[in-house]
Amino acid sequence: MNKDQLVRTAEAIVAPGKGILAADESSGTIAKRFAATGVASTEETRRDYRELLFSSEGAINQYISGVILYDETIRQTAKDGTPLVKLIEAAGAAPGIKVDLGAKPLANFSGETITEGLDGLLERLNDYQRLGARFAKWRAVIDIDSSKGIPSAFAVEANAQMLARYAAVCQNADLVPIVEPEVLMDGDHHIDRCGEVTEFVLKTVFMRLYEARVFLEGTVLKPNMVVPGRKNPKQASPEAVARATIRVLRNCVPAAVPGVAFLSGGQLDVEATANLDAIKNLGGPWALTFSYGRALQAAALRVWAGKPENALAAQAAFSHRAHMNALAAQGRWTEKDERLAA
Ligand code: 13P
Repeated sequence: MNKDQLVRTAEAIVAPGKGILAADESSGTIAKRFAATGVASTEETRRDYRELLFSSEGAINQYISGVILYDETIRQTAKDGTPLVKLIEAAGAAPGIKVDLGAKPLANFSGETITEGLDGLLERLNDYQRLGARFAKWRAVIDIDSSKGIPSAFAVEANAQMLARYAAVCQNADLVPIVEPEVLMDGDHHIDRCGEVTEFVLKTVFMRLYEARVFLEGTVLKPNMVVPGRKNPKQASPEAVARATIRVLRNCVPAAVPGVAFLSGGQLDVEATANLDAIKNLGGPWALTFSYGRALQAAALRVWAGKPENALAAQAAFSHRAHMNALAAQGRWTEKDERLAA
């Protein structure tokens, strides 16, 4: 394990004023996103769309520190034959790779999942290293449904074990593990319930990381923000989300962790930006930034709609969201910025 290299990479992907583009949707997930805008999902359309994102003038080079790729994408080339990984590197960002194999039903625990992918992981990581990856991502999924006793302590424990073992293997392959335990925002629960569950999940994850001898200085945490369930009529202001989120993180995340890069988890574009800005304004001992998928891409995908003639406008939409989130990651975003740039 090269600790200096791990620290350098972790610090680079949470560098001030930059964040991560999560473009690692599995083929099934991207097909659903494409279908919503009437685009057929083929190897070529997926390549065209991602090439468009990675070659957006003024986006990756200014606001994006790292890009998380899917297995197919890390092997693909742009139309002119340049590997997509090279486009990302040329723009000064670090290529990363999703290495989990997805959340599968957890036997005997109806409605809960366990994320799989440890078998053969070291060999896959060595292959990804050769292809240019400098960091990796593994997403554990925790749902909240108190009427069904979800999450169970067992599901949280099992997922935390997997995250810890994944993180240890990554560091042995000199890849920075992004540790992503996502508490979903799908239910109708109150923000306080999200806070309780997130606290339990993070405490469990950091205990297991400790037991697995993971080098925290060479990791990045990718958590959910503490928000009310989407179906709860009482939604929360950015300030309330920030207070709840920072309180939980301060109780759970050691200061040795260099950075926290939030997922957007289904929040609306501007909501995810406003919440990040409020969180950054409260601050923590760690760098705070974004690692967004939907909240960075949704507008661009809508504008593109699979048509080459829309590519420039789609790139502008992506650059705009990247810019707004980069401002938020510095606590410098205002609603006026949205109007000025839109
Ligand atoms: P969202 O920001 O769309 O939640 O995606 C981030 C991610 O990488 C989920 O694993």
